[in-house]
Amino acid sequence: MASLRELRHGATVAGMVRPAVRLALLRGGLENGTFEALREPRTAAELAEATGADRLLIASWLRAAHAMGWLVRRGNAYGPSGFVRWLLDTDAGDAGRAMLEEAIHAYGPVLGRYPELVVSGDRPVWSGDSEAATRVARGSRVIEGRALRALRRVPGVRAARRILDIGCGDAVYLVDLLRRHRDAIGDGVELDAAVAERARAHLVEMGVHRRAEVHVGDFTRLELPHVAYDLVLLNNNIYYFAEDDREPLFRRILEHLAPDGVLAIQSPMVTDDPISRWSGATAATAGFDAFLRIHEDLAGLPEPDGLQAQLRGAGFGGIGMVPVVPGGSVRYVWAKKPN
Ligand SMILES: C[S@@+](CC[C@H](N)C(=O)[O-])C[C@H]1O[C@@H](n2cnc3c(N)ncnc32)[C@H](O)[C@@H]1O
Repeated sequence: MASLRELRHGATVAGMVRPAVRLALLRGGLENGTFEALREPRTAAELAEATGADRLLIASWLRAAHAMGWLVRRGNAYGPSGFVRWLLDTDAGDAGRAMLEEAIHAYGPVLGRYPELVVSGDRPVWSGDSEAATRVARGSRVIEGRALRALRRVPGVRAARRILDIGCGDAVYLVDLLRRHRDAIGDGVELDAAVAERARAHLVEMGVHRRAEVHVGDFTRLELPHVAYDLVLLNNNIYYFAEDDREPLFRRILEHLAPDGVLAIQSPMVTDDPISRWSGATAATAGFDAFLRIHEDLAGLPEPDGLQAQLRGAGFGGIGMVPVVPGGSVRYVWAKKPN
């Protein structure tokens, strides 16, 4: 008879296999338009006719999707569950879909090559194409509300009126701050010209473009306006800078800050905090860190202590932390320019 320990290990293996199967089947529903077609409940035969799918295969997919809890069944007809409606119809669901797409198109293929990459040391370059950038931006919506609230708790942020957002992406943070403070001005710096264009469109859409400019280029080389900023933001991009480049980066930021100005760095971090372990955030951030480090042109997530040492080494004074999620697996680390 199998010992209790064997049963537990077997259950752990089954628990690892299940997500791979679930993700593949979910992809079948999302990417082939099958869930869309099921907005109007259909039988297997009706669905096969509506989508041109093989009837036997679609019948087995329907059974599996029902067993996973994604479909509800009335008689022989299937319709979407509350979860699928959330995925299809809400903003938060769209962020969830983007995270699933990222797992399918980015994490899966790259982490799947882990065994060979670890031995060969032949690291791939991160594609960073605009599709990937859009996916990441859509996925990050899930945490933005919390992150914006956390940012307002960083000392000096509420009073800041001259703002520099490095690697601004779609300029979500810049827009929020400029909308809150009608007398604030901002500069965004963005490496990717297509993303910078999206940031400009967002600033226009939100009616704050007259008080903001987006500069295209690498912050470490770009000539910027001579403004002494009260606040410099580095949101979700510290891992674009190699470990050895971070102290010089912070020194350059210091040159652009007004005395008492604050640098706010938002990043996921691998923590051993009990809440993060319990919620699965430690495992998720450690997996993200492995994904980042595989790439030739990306660096790992920062270690809180290492980051603080680099900030001090660059000449920053007061340093602190504000969690974005309970447990701090995503957090702001902030540092002030001495007066
Ligand atoms: C994951 S996105 C985050 C975007 C935005 N900060 C946010 O949190 O919504 C990182 C962005 O940093 C930009 N970036 C990376 N390195 C940069 C550099 N050296 N100078 C300017 N932008 C950079 C990338 O092009 C990308 O758009």
